[in-house]
Amino acid sequence: MLQLRDVQKKFQGSSVLRGVSLSVGAGEVVGLVGPSGGGKSTLLRCVVGLETIDGGTIAVDGSVGFMFQDFQLFPHMTVRENVTYALRLREKENCTAERVRELLEQLDIWELRDRYPRALSGGQKQRTALARTLVLNPNLLLCDEPTSGLDADRTDGVARLLRSAVSSRRAMLIASHDGDFLKRAADRILHMRDGTIVKEAQNLPAPATVGLAAPTDEQTGQQSENSEAYENMKNEGAPFRVEFGDGEG
Ligand SMILES: Nc1ncnc2c1ncn2[C@@H]1O[C@H](COP(=O)(O)OP(=O)(O)O)[C@@H](O)[C@H]1O
Ligand SMILES: [Mg+2]
Repeated sequence: MLQLRDVQKKFQGSSVLRGVSLSVGAGEVVGLVGPSGGGKSTLLRCVVGLETIDGGTIAVDGSVGFMFQDFQLFPHMTVRENVTYALRLREKENCTAERVRELLEQLDIWELRDRYPRALSGGQKQRTALARTLVLNPNLLLCDEPTSGLDADRTDGVARLLRSAVSSRRAMLIASHDGDFLKRAADRILHMRDGTIVKEAQNLPAPATVGLAAPTDEQTGQQSENSEAYENMKNEGAPFRVEFGDGEG
């Protein structure tokens, strides 16, 4: 879905990305963790084309959606208008209304459709921003610091929300300084520091935080965490992977 080879980026002569190589496969959620200034945002911006690279290659198989750190909702547009606007730009107006409604309902913000961003909580803004990105059916979803601006006790919900948007035809790359959050959200975590990937670790998001579908100990007769039942469920596309109807575009 995404492949970076030896990507280099400089700002005013100083190297910010120093030969980054990584790949993200279809259906995979990859976390990018590291201290501030390490180059995470720059890397995402290069992938989506907001920055040009000075060396290496970036290959994306499909369309890319980007969820900005501070959501960047249009303040003069309602929830529904914010989400519809992106589709209008793509001249898909004929299917807009139905698709927008479906998505807002899935993200539980349909009731808020006529509100302006100033009347939304942080979590509601975030779901609006996610809807605005998902309405274009990106194959690769990039999220920059999705938990910034939210209370610490909300990060579980964000992990669950993001995982619900992954499917066999959609991958995700999430940049965050919050390693605990990424442990709940990502299948694999890349550690980034001073413009390079310094470590890579497999991860199994904890069942209790991934959704209600995780089997209970009574049902499986064993510990849910790392259990075979959970692994099978995860691989088979369990109910927590809500279908957002991706793959058309
Ligand atoms: N547009 C820019 N111009 C100059 N320097 C930049 C620009 N964007 C980012 N940087 C620098 O690149 C480095 C990496 O920043 P960033 O990618 O934002 O890291 P992170 O997201 O990991 O905190 C920082 O030193 C930052 O100051
Ligand atoms: Mg950043």
